[in-house]
Amino acid sequence: MKNINPTKTEAWKKLEAHYNETKDQSLKSLFENDSERAAKFTTKWEDFYVDFSKNKITEETKSLLIDLANECGLKEAMDAYFGGEAINKTEGRPVLHTALRASKNADIKVDGENVMNEVEEVKAKIKAFSSEVIQGITKGYTGRNFTDIVNIGIGGSDLGPVMVTEALEFYKNHLNVHFVSNVDGDHVHETIKDLNPETTLFVIVSKSFTTQETLTNATTIRNWFMKTAPEDEVSKHFIAVSSNVAKVKEFGIDENNIFPMWDWVGGRFSLWSAVGLSISLAIGYPNFDALLSGAQKMDEHFKETAFENNIPVLAGLLSVWYNNFYKAESEAVIPYSQYLHRLPAYLQQAVMESNGKSTDRNGDKVDYQTGAIIWGEPGTNSQHAFFQLIHQGTKLIPADFIGYKVSLFDDKDHHYKLMANFFAQTEALLQGKTEDEVREELSSKGMSEDEIKELLPFKLFDGDKPTTSFLIDKLTPESLGKLVAMYEHKIFVQGVIWNIFSYDQWGVELGKQLASTILNDMDSKAIENHDSSTSSLLKVFLG
Ligand code: F6P
Repeated sequence: MKNINPTKTEAWKKLEAHYNETKDQSLKSLFENDSERAAKFTTKWEDFYVDFSKNKITEETKSLLIDLANECGLKEAMDAYFGGEAINKTEGRPVLHTALRASKNADIKVDGENVMNEVEEVKAKIKAFSSEVIQGITKGYTGRNFTDIVNIGIGGSDLGPVMVTEALEFYKNHLNVHFVSNVDGDHVHETIKDLNPETTLFVIVSKSFTTQETLTNATTIRNWFMKTAPEDEVSKHFIAVSSNVAKVKEFGIDENNIFPMWDWVGGRFSLWSAVGLSISLAIGYPNFDALLSGAQKMDEHFKETAFENNIPVLAGLLSVWYNNFYKAESEAVIPYSQYLHRLPAYLQQAVMESNGKSTDRNGDKVDYQTGAIIWGEPGTNSQHAFFQLIHQGTKLIPADFIGYKVSLFDDKDHHYKLMANFFAQTEALLQGKTEDEVREELSSKGMSEDEIKELLPFKLFDGDKPTTSFLIDKLTPESLGKLVAMYEHKIFVQGVIWNIFSYDQWGVELGKQLASTILNDMDSKAIENHDSSTSSLLKVFLG
């Protein structure tokens, strides 16, 4: 992979000049001056219609951003990524979540070995296990069928499975799937309080099997289980997904109940592996497989499509454009589907743990902005919450709008209302409302000139707020796989341009280390070794 400060490239300099020339051109004027604009900036691919036209770009912007991608070696970087090179350099690992959904005939090598056999073996194990639990062939220790599944994991070992299970709830079978992630005991006890140990299966998911939260929760749950069940029945109810087999066995889990994962799959990109076991249990293996196949189609699109029409490439470059030139600090993700309510939270980890870095690939501090802050909630709820700030606040917040042509229950009345809001919001954000329009509206309500004058400034909308619309045929396992893989590749594109390592997460370590020191200090009441604020907090807490 190339190692270049993006701000020193020719393309960056041209983009700076271009930004200064075009920054005052309104989106509205761009549409007024070009009746073909929507068509020019829309990419149609399979069941995706992606409209980039409501972004603050011209054809020149697009072409300069593509020049930037070329100068930063995006194509070579993509070859390294898909080819299994150790692009996660600080951990010395390849980044191959794409192998988890590749065709079984693919030849993807890690240390000279094709990994596809292992991948297929684990898939077969997921398929067999989930089918047997769903069909009631595998039973609990008293011979009763499983009714409930509890996924115990955190971060990437939780967010992907929760997000997908919620997103695909329509496709769910009879199993109730619960997620315990926080080390907050109230989370665990609240989750298990109504569960029957005889009919509950626990899936402990931890790549490292050293994560404090997961091990604490798993231990609490195992103790709760053993209050009613004999100890030797633990093996029928506890299974683990991990790359640390030794630690899993130490915990007391039967070797046959371990689903392996690999160092070359990052936690936040692992839902396609056995980490997705609870997904396969919830929606059945054929649907899990369709999710994977959607992701694989997006992988092919990303690899094979010219940058001009490449959805993740364009999405990643646009994000660089707003982040580094418009100085936008955050990006909103607004799904117009309640099923996708955990997508923003999932993307917060994927995006911010990946690109929240300030050291470049030389080990030097960057002198430009990197990872954007991601946030969001489903529309229309978010319209009644934070849209005020997007419309009339002082910050520029590019937003992705994600919606579907049809709803799953096919309730047209609701769906038309939902999507009318999607289209209206993107239009309102683009157009705004002028002084003349406000004046006309108020005077048609019979207001006097004085009243209009007083209220007018507050009713103005500047508009000119960028959005990208993802209009997808239908929420299916396959289309969800495509959408998630699109964001994964967008993250990759951004990391390449920003010249950072997107696949490590050293920034989470310090807090973990200090928490363990403080826990010891709390036990031994040695609370004076901290700054005065922390010591006082500890004193008040310990009473
Ligand atoms: O938050 C740090 C992190 O390492 C994430 O990257 C990961 O997804 C999460 O913790 C859980 O890790 P593990 O699967 O090893 O328990």
